Amino acid sequence: MIGLGTMGRNLLLNMADHGYSVAGFDKNPAQVEKLNKEGSGKKVAGFNTLESFVENLSTPRIVIMLVPAGKIVDQVINDLVPLLAKGDLIIDGGNSKFTDTDLRASVLEKQGIHFFGMGISGGEEGARKGPSMMPGGDIQAYQHVKPILEQIAARVKGEPCVTYIGPGASGHFVKMVHNGIEYALMQLIAETYELLKKGLQLNNHQIHEVFAKWNEGRLQSFLLEITKDIFAFRLPKSDRLLLDEIKDEAKAKGTGKWTSQFAMELQLPVPAIDMAVSMRDLSKYKSLRLQMAETYPREDGQALGAFGQAASLEKLEAAFYFSMMVIYGQGMHLLSKASEAYGYGLKLGEIAKIWRGGCIIRAAFLEDIYRAFHKNKELEFLLLDEHIQALVRANLPSAKSIVAEAISGGLAVPVFAACLTYFYSICTADMPTNLIQAQRDYFGAHTYELKGKDGVFHTNWSSALS
Ligand code: 6PG
Repeated sequence: MIGLGTMGRNLLLNMADHGYSVAGFDKNPAQVEKLNKEGSGKKVAGFNTLESFVENLSTPRIVIMLVPAGKIVDQVINDLVPLLAKGDLIIDGGNSKFTDTDLRASVLEKQGIHFFGMGISGGEEGARKGPSMMPGGDIQAYQHVKPILEQIAARVKGEPCVTYIGPGASGHFVKMVHNGIEYALMQLIAETYELLKKGLQLNNHQIHEVFAKWNEGRLQSFLLEITKDIFAFRLPKSDRLLLDEIKDEAKAKGTGKWTSQFAMELQLPVPAIDMAVSMRDLSKYKSLRLQMAETYPREDGQALGAFGQAASLEKLEAAFYFSMMVIYGQGMHLLSKASEAYGYGLKLGEIAKIWRGGCIIRAAFLEDIYRAFHKNKELEFLLLDEHIQALVRANLPSAKSIVAEAISGGLAVPVFAACLTYFYSICTADMPTNLIQAQRDYFGAHTYELKGKDGVFHTNWSSALS
């Protein structure tokens, strides 16, 4: 393991727990010391130089890197490769951009070194107790690491939360989409908080209770579980929540933005993810928001009263469930499009299966997704599965009413609304996009296609009208 931060150390200790003899290297001697200390009594050795670290590995060498995405990954590869031999395997376990992984893999392949992009999800605790892992690269090389990864992964119903994802940078692509889904779900929960707090005017304790209750039902998920805890976390010797002291300006490292960017490249719409990325960005315009809030104050009393009266917690739970299904639907759709475009051969059922445990987006609903794609390997879109169809139909009326009430009450619910309007659009047999074609042809002679006729057509619109 190169990079002995908490993630790297924990993953190594996890391997050592399963009886593997492991080695770690970090430029920072304090991290090496921590590994040696935490790994005492296990077959763990920390090294202070890259040379001594590599010398101590058996061949073919398997080197995992857990360093921040970007230039550092290239620096580590440059330092490491001269010490390796043909057939060795480097695994980048960070959140690297998949296009970077593609480049790195093709350069290293020429030198006979296998390069894997492996998404690892689950944070520090996941790394220690069992993460979900998404390895992509050469399938033969995968056989060397398969037994180790299967042992250290989280398990659901006795099955490990790791599988060979596909060739090239597919592992990092799938992890990127995992994170895109993560962004949308987090924003959905944040909007729910807004509705509970300002719409239904619940206090923090009541909000904690709502999330705790939902987490025991069909909405069960890791993200709801931690959210419920956040609503119970008090400042020392105080009744106040730490949450209430935290600034409302959200940071991001980039994986959500990349998901939206690459989805647009592939022309595969994921508006819930786009909106979640935009809301984190918008949150950073604090002084502008303050000015706007003063300029356009909301008529709170009346609007919030309306929401509070009409909405019920059951409806909100159902609207959440509906939106969550749409979010996963968009994410899976993006995976299937990328699989086709990049030749990844992704098995969506297997991906849903390894997301059931260990990762940040693990949720009871992943079992339904797994079943849908497992049953029908050709399923084009999650919401076409028969079982999911019934769930969509049952929860749609609540989503409709919650979005309508929130909007008329002046409360922002961009992801709830994006899920609903996306759903209506994708369920529209005759979209109004014929008009867009006519407009394009009118102003720019871009041509249009006609129903029931082959070829493209152009009309001189203004002359025909005069
Ligand atoms: C995971 C997480 C992890 C990442 C978060 C934070 O799967 O364990 O996705 O990889 O730390 O996504 O990302 P942001 O800083 O962009 O919110």
